[in-house]
Amino acid sequence: MTDAPRLDRGPRDPAAPLAGSHVLVGVGGGIAAYKAAELVRLLIKAGATVDVAMTARAQQFVGPMTFQALTRRPVFTDLFSLTDEATIGHIQLADRADLVVIAPATANLIARLAAGMADDAVTSTVLATRAPVLLAPAMNVNMWGHPLTAANVQRLVDVAKYNVVGPGDGFLACNWTGPGRLADPKDIVEAAAHVLSAQDLAGTRVLVTAGPTQEALDPARYLGNRSSGKMGVALAAAAQRRGATVTLILGPSAVEPPLGVRVVPVETAAQLGAALDAEVGGADVVIMAAAVADYRPMTVSPTKLKRGALGPEVQLELVANPDLLARLGARRTGGTPLLVGFAAETTDVIANARTKLAAKKCDLIVANDVGEPGAGFGVDTNHVTLVDAAGAHDVPAGPKAQVAHRILDRVVAVLAGKRTPAGSQRGKRVLR
Ligand code: PMT
Repeated sequence: MTDAPRLDRGPRDPAAPLAGSHVLVGVGGGIAAYKAAELVRLLIKAGATVDVAMTARAQQFVGPMTFQALTRRPVFTDLFSLTDEATIGHIQLADRADLVVIAPATANLIARLAAGMADDAVTSTVLATRAPVLLAPAMNVNMWGHPLTAANVQRLVDVAKYNVVGPGDGFLACNWTGPGRLADPKDIVEAAAHVLSAQDLAGTRVLVTAGPTQEALDPARYLGNRSSGKMGVALAAAAQRRGATVTLILGPSAVEPPLGVRVVPVETAAQLGAALDAEVGGADVVIMAAAVADYRPMTVSPTKLKRGALGPEVQLELVANPDLLARLGARRTGGTPLLVGFAAETTDVIANARTKLAAKKCDLIVANDVGEPGAGFGVDTNHVTLVDAAGAHDVPAGPKAQVAHRILDRVVAVLAGKRTPAGSQRGKRVLR
């Protein structure tokens, strides 16, 4: 092991905070230890260099060879082995880490950490590190519910400023059902990204709309659009990663909403409007990524319209829905909330976005050419231009998650002009 202690620990790009980071995964002795292998794989995929330390009990559930093969690095298993300590060294591991993740954090390991013990490869490294620590507990439901475990976790959060993700609720290996499952490895990775990200939206309440609306024709049919919800959900996830309290008003969508985000499900433009009215009062920022139907059928048939009864030609009568974004723009006072609209265009993208910026009284319009391959509806990527009073700024095409962070960079900059930014770089609790 030749790596020197890391000195470059500044705020990381919230779009990829694990890229180039050093993560130490401490594996505790529980049945969920095997899931730590998937966690390590996902951390490496996210760009982290991963070291693994294991308790003696963890090695009874899964062999160090598994982690060595995944990380291509020696695994630290024995504090009192001359070879381990000489070749790896718990102080070097502790110094090099940007983040320590304990998964699974068993009741026993949590108790030992809370007592400040340093008697094995994991506890000694954790006690020696100055990096943030993320616990992913996993244990029997009654052990998790025991007041001593609760007190130990609380002590680690309050005194040592540790972060916690999970445990999840469900069927446990011990045949009990309830809280105690190790959080899904992908949720642990997101919690790790959250801990490493600049919390530049801490204390900010962000309201995001996403997805399509569906306007019923009859019990079987509706008028809709091609929005999948991916862009809006990516914005909600990005805002949450950066410390915001996020509410997501979500039209019918197959996309899984981010953990920890409050979701208000809606179907129609009228429901979306009502949800906006109910939620906008507490919001500092509103981002309208939803594709709201401009028109709805004048009448909705209570029974399924029959092909035979309608004849060969059908005329649909439509009535305009209110422009919800324009309504928000007209109602706000003193520039609050900060209003971000989208513009889905196929021609004259920037000119049309400028018209929408003025007409809807927004601070920012995110314009996308929905005719461009790899942009707009349905796809995982987008290519947008940020249009505001100062001009138009092209955001390089990329995954919607990355584009979402570039949009939020602009939101953060505008907010910073309005008030002193709240929030710290690290140490935010992730209790869910
Ligand atoms: O969901 P995805 O598949 O990821 O696709 C992403 C997207 C293409 C839906 C997204 O990037 C996008 O462009 N969203 C806005 C779609 C849209 O309705 O654009 P518009 O130009 O028609 O409307 C302009 C703005 O007014 C939008 O912010 C829209 O939310 C709002 N609007 C529109 C109509 C209406 N009746 N009320 C509104 O508030």
